[in-house]
Amino acid sequence: MKHKVTFTAMDHGTREDYDLVEAHDARNAAEIADRVMAWLRSMDGDSPYRISRLEHALQSATRAERDGADDETIACALLHDIGDVISPRNHSEASAALLAPYVSEKNHWIVKHHGLFQGYYWLHHYGEDRNARDSYRNNEHYEACVEFCARWDQVSFDPAYRTHPLEHYEPLVRELFARKPRPFL
Ligand SMILES: [Fe+2]
Ligand SMILES: [Fe+2]
Repeated sequence: MKHKVTFTAMDHGTREDYDLVEAHDARNAAEIADRVMAWLRSMDGDSPYRISRLEHALQSATRAERDGADDETIACALLHDIGDVISPRNHSEASAALLAPYVSEKNHWIVKHHGLFQGYYWLHHYGEDRNARDSYRNNEHYEACVEFCARWDQVSFDPAYRTHPLEHYEPLVRELFARKPRPFL
């Protein structure tokens, strides 16, 4: 098997070329869970909060689990802030983009909008509209996103709360990214 495509511009590519690219992409995709686990570990650093960003993620997931959420929802609670690693100024959308091929439309929507919905708890300190999320009030996932923030995200900054360790959630992460992805380009 050859190891390089024949083309220098995509419009000259052949089916064989793109089969080669796809094989590479598939191997790359198979490593997502490893990278996500490494990103989570990288969030265990300094933070202005009383717990690290990793501990916040674990606490959010633990609260979701103790509330009886399903595995996919727990995984979304664990990963809702993972976008901080590569897109700190647009973290909600980055987290949602990572999860989009593997989760329900509802869970994707919640992760994508959780930053705005969390604004309810702090935007007024800057003279901004804490109810900005209400522009989505007619969306079918509005209440679920309000609940996600109220029960699992905004409360998960407590150093006294007993969270599950990251190892507890590793199988969940691996199961999620081993799913057959929905097609996105
Ligand atoms: Fe967030
Ligand atoms: Fe969060």
